Amino acid sequence: MNKKLSLAVLLSGSGTNLQAIIDSINNGKLQADIKIVISNNKNAFGLERAKQCGLKNLCIDHQAFKDRETYDKKLIQIISKENVDFIVLAGFMRILGANFVKCFPNKILNIHPSLLPKYPGLNTHKKVLENKDKEHGVTVHLVDEGLDSGPIIGYAKVKVDVKEKENDLINKIHKIEHFIYPEILSELQEGKISIIDNKIKIDDVYCKDGKEYFI
Ligand code: GRF
Repeated sequence: MNKKLSLAVLLSGSGTNLQAIIDSINNGKLQADIKIVISNNKNAFGLERAKQCGLKNLCIDHQAFKDRETYDKKLIQIISKENVDFIVLAGFMRILGANFVKCFPNKILNIHPSLLPKYPGLNTHKKVLENKDKEHGVTVHLVDEGLDSGPIIGYAKVKVDVKEKENDLINKIHKIEHFIYPEILSELQEGKISIIDNKIKIDDVYCKDGKEYFI
């Protein structure tokens, strides 16, 4: 049996993905410890969730720093001390600079509500509806310095109904996120997925496009 994963989770908002990871740990599906939860936003409900679960949590408000580099330096300092296997971005609404990315090679994961490389950035659900896309989805990827870019680890698709409203789509996507993020972490822990030199190996085979998950 592989060792438990140790994780740092970074978020800015409600933290439902953090909750899904916590639940998955608590029900024995994911062998992991969350060492620290960090938010750049003191009002993030995700911090409250961390508190309620007795997890170490901390707000590092980016507004108190003169620039991105100084802010990232502080994050690097704090996260390095925790010695984690993965830094899990779960709705962390900031781009991490090149220095941060360089400090944690093969370790920074993000979840994004679209089928990347389509629709990086905000308002993905709206864009899907405006463009009358027939499918939408969720992507988990390794983070580089770009916006929602980096090698894709896994994704899941959903069909979009013509009559669907943005809120329906948001709920549908959230449900998939709550499945796929813990699942991918669990496969990383079990060694079914590995990340080597910024490349993704799935069941021992290098995989350029990531693995599709069916829910
Ligand atoms: C999710 O939709 C995630 O894909 C995106 O930010 C959102 C975070 O939601 N990166 P929550 O705070 O986990 O509920």
